[in-house]
Amino acid sequence: MFTSITVENEGDVLVCRPATGQPMRFHAMWLRDNANDEATRSSQNGQRLITLADIPSDIAIQSASLEDGSIAIRFTDRDETVSYDGDWLATHCYDRQDPRPDLWIAEESETWDQSLGNSLPSADFTSLHEDSDTLLTWLQGLNRHGVAKVTGGPVQSGALMDVAALFGYVRETNYGKWFEVRTEVNPVNLAYTGLGLQGHTDNPYRDPTPTMQILYCLENSAEGGDSIVVDGFRCAEKLHQENPEGFDLLRKYCARFSYEGSSGVALHSRRPMLECTPDGELVAVRFNNRSAAAFTDIPFDDMDGFYKAYRRFGELVEDPAMQVSFKLEPGECFILDNTRVLHARTGYSGDGTRWLQGCYPDRDGMKSTLAAMSSARAAS
Ligand code: FE2
Repeated sequence: MFTSITVENEGDVLVCRPATGQPMRFHAMWLRDNANDEATRSSQNGQRLITLADIPSDIAIQSASLEDGSIAIRFTDRDETVSYDGDWLATHCYDRQDPRPDLWIAEESETWDQSLGNSLPSADFTSLHEDSDTLLTWLQGLNRHGVAKVTGGPVQSGALMDVAALFGYVRETNYGKWFEVRTEVNPVNLAYTGLGLQGHTDNPYRDPTPTMQILYCLENSAEGGDSIVVDGFRCAEKLHQENPEGFDLLRKYCARFSYEGSSGVALHSRRPMLECTPDGELVAVRFNNRSAAAFTDIPFDDMDGFYKAYRRFGELVEDPAMQVSFKLEPGECFILDNTRVLHARTGYSGDGTRWLQGCYPDRDGMKSTLAAMSSARAAS
């Protein structure tokens, strides 16, 4: 990977030069903190054994040499040499030449519109349980697009838990471990009616919001009741292109959401509709007309612009060119990243029945399963 290295700035910086491309600089403090020897990290579980206070604030590199792709470093605080894998250093380089843009989306994500309809990640229920290749490919698609389908599952109450168990763990809420989505006489939520529902993310009134959702179909003979998914990240990208100032208002100011639809429950949150990290990565969308509360955190002079951007985002969500729609058959489900992908449904009539079950698996379990399976595959 590297063809030469030098120690510069009186031992404060290691410069590694690859055969092609820009040199990569690393600070002595960063290198010492990220040493992977037995004195620094547990060989059993990889966890760090030291705190920063164990490293002198004036730590420096005494000497460094390049051998067979590895870099051996002797620091001023220790007698022994610490070895760094050159590929690991290159992968973890933080010496970027180009500043990140004002808005960016994680490299592992690929935003989409209506055209995803032909290639929505989908796999058979039995194959997912019996074939790890199928599961890995399906998880990769789910992680990349934030949505995937499962077909050919049992038409059996609770089968959605078997889908969640493929990759993670379900979060229990006031709606239960799972909830029934069908027409009720006195519904505690408009989802439990035959009304059409605008594209939304679920439960933005929760903190944290549910990160993933499964909607599993058990009956769907009613007229209508089609499912629609929309990539909130693509909508946010479009809004940012069209109206960066409006985008900034939705990112900068908190909206408010609330739910008090059933006895003993009073959920309230104050979070932005478009949430970015301080360095500009878009990480979450919260959009739900049913549970939006009065917004009281936007200064008077910005409220008009905030509402214009809010309206435009809603128009993008409702634009058919942004939507993928399908009608679930009994035994089919879809799963989505609720921090990114909005879901909607068309209204349905009283003739026939529509019965879905939903639950909220946590996304960290899905990411962990995917990463562990990918590492195991790479090592085999
Ligand atoms: Fe929903």
